[in-house]
Amino acid sequence: MGNKHKVTFFPDRKVVVVDAGTTVLSAALSAQIPLVSICGGEGVCGKCRVIVKSGTVEACGRAKGAARADAPGTVLACQALVMSDLSVEIPPEARLDGSAPAGEDADLRRKGLFERIEEAAAPEARFQERAVALAPVVTKVYLELPAPDLNDRLSDLERVCRGFARKTGVGVDTSSLANIRELGPLLRSCDWKVTVTVLHGTENAQITAIEAGDRSARPYAFVFDIGTTTISGQLVECQQGRVLGTKVTYNRQATFGSDVITRIIYAQAPDGLERLHAAVADALNEMIEAFCREHGVDLNDVSAVSVAGNTTMIHLLLKIDPRHIRQEPYVPVANVIPQVRAADAGIKIGPHGVLLCAPGVSSYVGGDITAGVLACGIHRSQDVSVLIDIGTNGEIVLGNSEWMISCAASAGPAFEGSGMSCGLRAVRGALQACRIDPKTHEVSFQTIGNDKPRGICGSGYIDLVRALLETHLLDKNGRFHQETKSKRLRRGREGWEFVVVWQREAAVDHDITVTEADIDNLKRAKAAIYSGLATLLRHMDMTATDVKRIYLAGGFGTALDIESAVQIGLAPDVERGRFVFMGNTSLAGARLRLLHRELIKETQTLAANMTYFELSADPQYMDEYMAALFFPHTEATRFPSVRYAQSR
Ligand code: FES
Repeated sequence: MGNKHKVTFFPDRKVVVVDAGTTVLSAALSAQIPLVSICGGEGVCGKCRVIVKSGTVEACGRAKGAARADAPGTVLACQALVMSDLSVEIPPEARLDGSAPAGEDADLRRKGLFERIEEAAAPEARFQERAVALAPVVTKVYLELPAPDLNDRLSDLERVCRGFARKTGVGVDTSSLANIRELGPLLRSCDWKVTVTVLHGTENAQITAIEAGDRSARPYAFVFDIGTTTISGQLVECQQGRVLGTKVTYNRQATFGSDVITRIIYAQAPDGLERLHAAVADALNEMIEAFCREHGVDLNDVSAVSVAGNTTMIHLLLKIDPRHIRQEPYVPVANVIPQVRAADAGIKIGPHGVLLCAPGVSSYVGGDITAGVLACGIHRSQDVSVLIDIGTNGEIVLGNSEWMISCAASAGPAFEGSGMSCGLRAVRGALQACRIDPKTHEVSFQTIGNDKPRGICGSGYIDLVRALLETHLLDKNGRFHQETKSKRLRRGREGWEFVVVWQREAAVDHDITVTEADIDNLKRAKAAIYSGLATLLRHMDMTATDVKRIYLAGGFGTALDIESAVQIGLAPDVERGRFVFMGNTSLAGARLRLLHRELIKETQTLAANMTYFELSADPQYMDEYMAALFFPHTEATRFPSVRYAQSR
């Protein structure tokens, strides 16, 4: 086949033809099998390991100089060039979706990309939805217009606008030339009976589509939270504001790097921006397709997509060069994105469908956080509250209806299970809660979906660290007490580790462990978040006890134990009744904006009123951070209710 070679991936049995010299990682991506590649293909993280079953690969990059490898053999997909036809086995742990395809059925395999999640209860978000009347941003109105005659010679377009105003009491216009071009024949072909789709903007209402006949009973929209690691989406029926389904999938941009900085760097490579954009647009379109198939929804009846995401994710979705986000003075191209056509961002819904992006505040506090504040209602209350959103980074907002201050703490993705030896998103099979028997060290655990465990998600790690500390298997520095007699404590390939689940009880082919390196990651992550909050409080001359409500949000899973979060020093040691676990506030906020048009303006106002505080510019932040690199904290007096902290 000349300079082209056929690569067959197992167990999917997907085949792609690629140029000789393509990396196996790129070939897998072309086959729509995104692999875990935390380092963005630099050959450092070792997560993209695959098994070449037949054929020849050549080492490149960091592995350059190594001999050509004839199969069979394990290689790093990012460091192996395709030199002949290949058969490649992808182990479950190398797959970005984290699971092997289910059976041979192609449809089932597609579904395997998604995991259903139960949205964690978000009482404040529901309160907001009840407190503000349902008034979707996009509405569909059926009109029966009088045909023109010599006494009523209004133009076609004015006739539609008049009909709409008479029926709804709202003035409307259109800026779409396509609507006007098609209008004459359309009105006459359907006996002047049409459905108009109207976008209710912040200033005026605009017709976005005119269709023949009555299609007013089918107003659908999508909401998405575009996270650095995961994308959550919902299909919404707008007339009654019902959520018809929720899905979560991995952000395939992770193939190009696990954090926003690596991706911004990747965006500067030839085709980099295009690839990053396509990765997120494809993921949204696949989710949209799957939702429509499952619920029998016609794409033409989908009028809007409301998204919330961090500033880099929104730039990449809109194919805007994000380079200045990481260059001093860290200014994004845009914080507030006007309403645009969804098709212009590569999102495939009805041809005139619109895309609404929640406004950001700065390069590192984006629309996911303003949407989160909206969902919690911090900006509406006189009481001082805090929102701590723990995703791939940790963003914190402190304030009330009069003032708000925000910061971004470089926590890293440990609480999302990323970069951890046995880490997993909050998906089925993730260990989400556990306890350790202080005498026998036996571990009792619960997994999402009660499936056999495949790994550990954020809430599982938080419980685990607490249990290890309370049973004195771990010291306050995060080191295992090696002298402790326990069959679960052992020296592994990467140093000391604790076996959480034996392989015989797991759905993977190895023991599920937590290593000292994992604990170190978690310690740094919790220290970044705690010290970020402590710095904001100090800046405002306040303490944690001045805060009435602490909203915790993020992709921990639905089982976050607040007590465990306090015990490990992630959250401040205050009365537990002040904590509210909110789940995905970014998604809830995006939905609120879709269903309550007045909240579009409200989000813009709250974003404009929020101050961004740059932690790295604060001389005391580093001291706070260093002091928090201890369980629960170097100053035990800050955690009076944590018993192990008081012991020597
Ligand atoms: S080692 Fe291949 S992506 Fe990191």
